[in-house]
Amino acid sequence: MQRSSSSVKGLNQPEPGSTIESSFFRDGFDLEIAEASRHFRGASFPIECVDLGTSELVSPPRYSVPIDYLLASLHTQSNRIESQFEAGIGIHAYQVKSMALPPIKTVGVIGTGVIGASWTALFLAKGLKVIVTDPAPGAEARLRDQLLKHWPSIPNAKVTQDEYLNNFKFVEEIDAYLGDVDLIQENGPERLDFKRSLFAHLDANTPEHVLIASSSSGLPSSEFITECNKNPARILIGHPFNPPHLVPLVEVVPHQGTGDAYVTAALQFYRSLGKDPVLVKKETPGFIANRLQAAVCAEAYSLVSRGIVSAEDLDKTMTSGLGLRWALTGPIMTNTLGGGGNFNHFMDHLGPALKTWLDDMHRHEFDLNSQDVDILKERVNEWTSQANLEEIEQSRNKRLVDLIKSKSEDSV
Ligand SMILES: NC(=O)c1ccc[n+]([C@@H]2O[C@H](COP(=O)([O-])OP(=O)(O)OC[C@H]3O[C@@H](n4cnc5c(N)ncnc54)[C@H](O)[C@@H]3O)[C@@H](O)[C@H]2O)c1
Repeated sequence: MQRSSSSVKGLNQPEPGSTIESSFFRDGFDLEIAEASRHFRGASFPIECVDLGTSELVSPPRYSVPIDYLLASLHTQSNRIESQFEAGIGIHAYQVKSMALPPIKTVGVIGTGVIGASWTALFLAKGLKVIVTDPAPGAEARLRDQLLKHWPSIPNAKVTQDEYLNNFKFVEEIDAYLGDVDLIQENGPERLDFKRSLFAHLDANTPEHVLIASSSSGLPSSEFITECNKNPARILIGHPFNPPHLVPLVEVVPHQGTGDAYVTAALQFYRSLGKDPVLVKKETPGFIANRLQAAVCAEAYSLVSRGIVSAEDLDKTMTSGLGLRWALTGPIMTNTLGGGGNFNHFMDHLGPALKTWLDDMHRHEFDLNSQDVDILKERVNEWTSQANLEEIEQSRNKRLVDLIKSKSEDSV
């Protein structure tokens, strides 16, 4: 058997009968052999995964994977794994050691509207190079204005303002640069037809190990990867919260065929920017944060429209109570602390009351198609038409920056 040692990058197809050795990376936690085999899904290249140490088969017999995906997967892992493939016959063996993830240095940004400009600001402030495109007339000038505006508020910038303003290249057409990027963050319009054809194009023209994340706030990626034939396993949602250069949350939402290696790489990438990503394990409309927001808002609308509380006092229950705590400990930890450090106690103690409240809420569920909407609008406008909205927004933004800076001080 001929043996060749090779770097993974750029390798497309193993020679029949040859064995390839490669290494890959993943940090933070151990990769179990059985878990490793889960990374290799798809169909096209038959392999069997064997633990070199024990000679045991650790994958289903004749497990099939697209070899390019497999190699890309190897490339983005963070444990060192020595692997051997015998093409056609397919033997794959692993050893696991810890090593560091290869860094993402250059990001491609597609679309520089509200979200794309804010992502660009964050990427640049964290020392990344950015290649950015948007076909709208005047988009480059608007991006420069946004970058200047965002600079003072970005927590923990790693570069000078000069570097921040000069480390990006605005291009009319990104195709010629797709070979230079290590990750793409897409921020185009939220339209299925648009994302479907854009992703087909990006998938076909970007090296297959490059992770492609969409900022989509509602469209699950399974709906727009339908024409991606090269490597849809590297596509997922990286849904930020506006503005992404400030709010730490990113919802990482893989589709069913997204490779675990890419999910891990996305989580690591966002963490490296000081973000607080969460993994949404299954696609669900609204992902997580917007569902929680919808649940709270639906009850708020119900209470205000029923005249139980004024719109102003409704907001106060959040800003002077629930919201204050929730910025520091989420609902689950808040319940646990409320149960004297014991979630079970909280559930057993307050569960019956909670059930009564929930039953009543279901009885009074807010109907978005009823006249209650007009009543709600009238009651909200009574209050907000008297308020100085500009002042409120400025004060909110300033305090938000202070809060985020204070929360991120220890974490970056
Ligand atoms: N605005 C929010 O609060 C928010 C929050 C989270 C996620 N998102 C998501 O982020 C994405 C962008 O939203 P936005 O609010 O920034 O929209 P936006 O309308 O402000 O920006 C979209 C940009 O895409 C550009 N564009 C159009 N065709 C393009 C192409 N072929 N290539 C590159 N750019 C192109 C447009 O010129 C525009 O500048 C959407 O998917 C949206 O759902 C928005």
